[in-house]
Amino acid sequence: MTEGHHSRNIRDKFSGRIGFVLAGSASAIGLGNLWRFPYLAAKYGGGAFLITYIILVFTLGLSLMIAEVAIGRKTGLSAIGAFKQFGRKYAFIGILSSFIPIIITPYYSVIGGWILKYITVFFTGDGTSAATDNFFLNFIAQTAQPIAWTWIFIFLCGCVVFLGIKNGIEQLNKYMMPALVIISLVISAYSLSLPGAFAGLKYYLIPNFDNFGIKTVVAAMGQMFFSLSLAMGIMITYGSYMRKEDDLEKSVRHIGIFDTAIAFLAGLMIIPAVFAFSGGEAGTLNAGPGLMFVTLPKVFVSFPFANITGTLFFILVFFAAFTSAISLYETIVSIFSDHFKWSRRKSVIVTGILLTLAAAPPSLGFGAWNFISIAGMTILDMMDFLSNSALMPLAAVLTCLFIGWWVGPQIVINEVNESQLFKSRLLFVFIIKWIAPLCMLIIFVSYVLSSLKIISF
Ligand code: PHE
Repeated sequence: MTEGHHSRNIRDKFSGRIGFVLAGSASAIGLGNLWRFPYLAAKYGGGAFLITYIILVFTLGLSLMIAEVAIGRKTGLSAIGAFKQFGRKYAFIGILSSFIPIIITPYYSVIGGWILKYITVFFTGDGTSAATDNFFLNFIAQTAQPIAWTWIFIFLCGCVVFLGIKNGIEQLNKYMMPALVIISLVISAYSLSLPGAFAGLKYYLIPNFDNFGIKTVVAAMGQMFFSLSLAMGIMITYGSYMRKEDDLEKSVRHIGIFDTAIAFLAGLMIIPAVFAFSGGEAGTLNAGPGLMFVTLPKVFVSFPFANITGTLFFILVFFAAFTSAISLYETIVSIFSDHFKWSRRKSVIVTGILLTLAAAPPSLGFGAWNFISIAGMTILDMMDFLSNSALMPLAAVLTCLFIGWWVGPQIVINEVNESQLFKSRLLFVFIIKWIAPLCMLIIFVSYVLSSLKIISF
């Protein structure tokens, strides 16, 4: 099979299966693994949540990922063009999916900027000030500093994307992903060695069926979805750079394993350390920016080598967030180059300018523009809600209907078969036609209800 066999343009490609698996994992492993998974696992029944999560990833999650990668590889195009190739009336699914990275990237970059700031704070030996009350809130309320860090983050992403798939993204992941695994192992070992850590470990791993219920399943499903970077055109785009001869099913399975392993390690890093710090008080464990930028700095400085642990930890967070942001950036770039037939150079520059502008409001929303808020949400929260809670489940339902019912799962099966026989095809058909649309609908409804504060997670 020649390169670009099914595509009209000669696309840059991953050099092989490893390059694809690393890039897919690099996109999947992000802030969701580090600052949300441990919290959910602890809250929703420890081991019971872990088992639920693993089952969901390897059935529902990977079926959806296989479908997306296959659409990308078959058409050799990014989301909008890919859906359009099956009929103009389907283009709207691609358009909807493409909006998601366009909304996420600016605010994800704002968080990327905060991470860079925290690396420098710990690196310069100033960890104790990062652990003081209000350090974080005072920092994000400023105008110039957070925006400057955000722009640096966007610029760095732009440089890697500019270098292309093989020479940029693949090269970076080749070093950053192994480094991420090593740092995760080192910090987990450190965290487990702290006095009082064992109580945290037990809390994390032993199934607790009192906290287990339908909410556990819904929370696990939502987390899995975000964590695997599904329904936002990313896996379609990366699929379009995959070679026909590379085993698609196996590659996707490896991404699932990698992503889940790092989420699991994040729990080992964070839960025992927080327990050791709080004297076994489970309520100290929180999620999101509060966990990362407020609780954890306090945890680090309460133990020896705080500046080293803090620096290492925030470098790890940076690697995770940076490689995810790159996948978002690349997805936007490929949409522009496919749609307007622009060169990579032009698309990267235009995307960079747009992101630079679009990242200012979510950053300013914590200070100068804090008067802009709907239902108590800051600008960043609103962008997060719109992309993750509203558009993403919607795009996912449509993608399932598209594959399961409108064009038929055989298209995906044929594409997977191009490399290796699709072993779990029967399961795939069943999931994509029946289970996935139903689950996506449940997520969508429960997100809307929880944002209206009718139910809570
Ligand atoms: N999958 C990433 C995570 O777990 C998040 C992400 C979302 C990455 C959107 C890219 C795009 O954090």
